[in-house]
Amino acid sequence: METQAQGLIKLVNEKKVNRNPKFLAVASGKGGVGKTNFAVNFSYILANDFNRKVLLIDADIGMANVHILVNVNTKKTLKNILNGEKIEDIIFTTRNFDILPGFSGIDAINEVEDSAVFRFVQNLNEISQQYDYIIIDTAAGIDNKVISFIRASSKTYVITTPEPTAIMDAYALIKSMKKLYDYSDFKVVVNMAKNEEEGLETFERLNSSIKKFLNMEVKLAGVLPATKNIQKTVKKKQIISEVYPSEKFVIQLKKIAADELGEPPPAVKESFWEKVVGFLRRE
Ligand SMILES: Nc1ncnc2c1ncn2[C@@H]1O[C@H](COP(=O)(O)OP(=O)(O)O)[C@@H](O)[C@H]1O
Ligand SMILES: [Mg+2]
Repeated sequence: METQAQGLIKLVNEKKVNRNPKFLAVASGKGGVGKTNFAVNFSYILANDFNRKVLLIDADIGMANVHILVNVNTKKTLKNILNGEKIEDIIFTTRNFDILPGFSGIDAINEVEDSAVFRFVQNLNEISQQYDYIIIDTAAGIDNKVISFIRASSKTYVITTPEPTAIMDAYALIKSMKKLYDYSDFKVVVNMAKNEEEGLETFERLNSSIKKFLNMEVKLAGVLPATKNIQKTVKKKQIISEVYPSEKFVIQLKKIAADELGEPPPAVKESFWEKVVGFLRRE
């Protein structure tokens, strides 16, 4: 029989397992296309249906709202960590996945000394190694911070809807990243589609411009239908994947998650935080 001490040692060792996380950004050109709902439900599914360790980072500086969606109150931001607090104290767990809120504090990165930044990166690296997936919910548009997160991520899920303006803005984002940084690791999610056909048409419209003008291609991750149950759950601060697991939206999202799991893990340890902080400090 396992003694209490052995159990504890096992627990500590499990915690220290080096999981070599994959960093995935969630972005869009236009706001209100469903990034945060995608990020929260994707995290929920990876954690609960596929048993992965997931950290969701709320990197929407202007409108951080992941914690509102999962119904948790939080006031701390990364500024607290830059000022010496432990990152463990601002991460919270909900529904078997972890959330790092308050990226609004990242602006303080240009006000603190190099040694504080060094500790900050080390702390984030250490914490990150405990996860299989780190999902980064970014802001709409393409400001310096969004660009930094995307550039540092091994893949970016771009969310669009069938609206022409959303398609155009998704194209603008992909174009900027390709032209400025030769970054092309995008997968497209068409959200709020009336049906599969509208979703596929939307993707084709986007991808044909990308092929024609950017000399590259993007892959379709999947089509997610519009559903009233999203709004219903958002109003009640619930997660659709939790309360309506048989909704088409959820089934489709599970397929996207299964595909993601089928892709090879990062071959080498990703230096996500060194990159992000390096980009942000230079700007
Ligand atoms: N598939 C969907 N069907 C219906 N409404 C949706 C869907 N996805 C998102 N929404 C709604 O759209 C709004 C914006 O979603 P949100 O995830 O906050 O977008 P973003 O993070 O891109 O700004 C929310 O009110 C949300 O409930
Ligand atoms: Mg959002």
